[in-house]
Amino acid sequence: MPDLENPFQETLLSRHRAEPCTVVIFGATGDLTNRKLIPAFYNIAACGDLPPQFKVVGFARRDKSDEVFRSELEAGNRKNSRQGHSDELWESFSRCIHYHRSEFEDPAGYVNLKLLLDKFDHERGTPANRLFYLASAPEAFKSILEMLRATGLNEGVGGKWARVVCEKPFGKDLASARALNEVVNATFHESDTYRIDHYLGKETAQNIMVLRFANALFEPNWNSRYIDHIQITCAENLGMEGGRGGYYDTAGALRDMVQNHLFQLLSLVAMEPPTDLSADSVRDEKVKVIRALRPLVGPEAVGQNVIRAQYTAGSVDGAPRVGYRQEDRVNPESKTEAYVALRLFIDTWRWQGVPFYIRVGKQLPKKATEISIHFKKPPQVPFATSKLLKNSENTLVIRIQPDEGIALRILCKQPGQAMRMQQVKLDFRYSSSFGKASPEAYERLLLDAMAGDATLFARRDEVENAWKFIDEIEHAWHQAATPPPMCEYPAGSWGPKEADDLLGQDGREWRLL
Ligand code: BG6
Repeated sequence: MPDLENPFQETLLSRHRAEPCTVVIFGATGDLTNRKLIPAFYNIAACGDLPPQFKVVGFARRDKSDEVFRSELEAGNRKNSRQGHSDELWESFSRCIHYHRSEFEDPAGYVNLKLLLDKFDHERGTPANRLFYLASAPEAFKSILEMLRATGLNEGVGGKWARVVCEKPFGKDLASARALNEVVNATFHESDTYRIDHYLGKETAQNIMVLRFANALFEPNWNSRYIDHIQITCAENLGMEGGRGGYYDTAGALRDMVQNHLFQLLSLVAMEPPTDLSADSVRDEKVKVIRALRPLVGPEAVGQNVIRAQYTAGSVDGAPRVGYRQEDRVNPESKTEAYVALRLFIDTWRWQGVPFYIRVGKQLPKKATEISIHFKKPPQVPFATSKLLKNSENTLVIRIQPDEGIALRILCKQPGQAMRMQQVKLDFRYSSSFGKASPEAYERLLLDAMAGDATLFARRDEVENAWKFIDEIEHAWHQAATPPPMCEYPAGSWGPKEADDLLGQDGREWRLL
């Protein structure tokens, strides 16, 4: 029974009724469609959540038939589907997949696309609901949007809807993000615009609001009175595999991960409670966090609070790895960071004086994303004579991935005559508590876009405010007369010594993962 006194309940229950629609994927021959999007639709179908009369149209430049396109996607689905691959389900599911060949800049291609979509709607007697998914190289976004507008495909016909999903990267600085937003908003209303950040689709990221606002145990303590500091770590044990070096070297860790994924996690951890779970209530609160970030302006402030680094040759899990500058498609004289650590402050009432330490990097010892909340120690007067361990504060660890869950570290008395204390861990694991794997982030996000729920997508002001903050750091790194140094760390280590010093200066340490 819904709990009618709980204002969150109705919104939670009424979500995810995806409506009949056609999804058009631009750049459909790319890796994303094969590895993520089609397996996500297939798994939505396997869970029985695909809307009736659903269709996907792949729009790309290469010449190929529906059959060839389907068989390429079948191979991808066998490899990447979360719930495995059933020939029977694939047989029926794949009938909804079609291919449309066109250049992104060719008006005739869009006229033909419109005819094709109209034909589908006519044959099936379905409403003309359309979701346009921009999964091409970002340079093509502008042309695609202009062509959609020129053909009128951006307008919902007869009360039906037309929406756009934009893949990342959404710009590479504030100016380019603004320019792109101008084109997007000249074509689609902001409420029909879905900027993907796949971290928001992760089950554990969605759980942050529930943990904070639905538990009496945590909510009253979630502020500068009780919290000493917060750490967010996103470690990856891979480098530039699969030709990623070309893109990555133009971006770097700060643009690739911090501006979007890590700022989204930061917002969820630091935001004020929204009045309800509507898309705008949640995003209004999130954007306030980004706006309240204390700006880091100029090489001195940036040098004191931000550490950038590249990996040198080393080994991860016993396997040798080359240094960043020796990676495929990376400039041998590259000035792009593969690791970044930041000390941030959020200038709000709740967070006065609480540092947020963020670190993210490639070729670290393992893949793990977590948020740890380090509480202040109580006076501990009665235990003044007992030997207290270093780092004995209560710590709440939210494991975003892998091994999704939440752990709370508390002090306990060791059994025995003496008053000796030891830290113990109370551990909640999604896999054992819920017994089934969580949906993939893309499944949730695609369902939301088809249901018209933009809560887990970035709004224009979130993206632009995040770039505004990031631009100052990029400026100090690349345009200052005496820029802060580029540090180094061997592949397979936990990052440069300077990042340890960043916390060391404050009498703190990175949590061991
Ligand atoms: C992407 C970045 O957005 O996220 C990649 O471009 C990164 O560089 C990836 O590897 C990490 O995503 P996940 O879900 O594997 O943590």
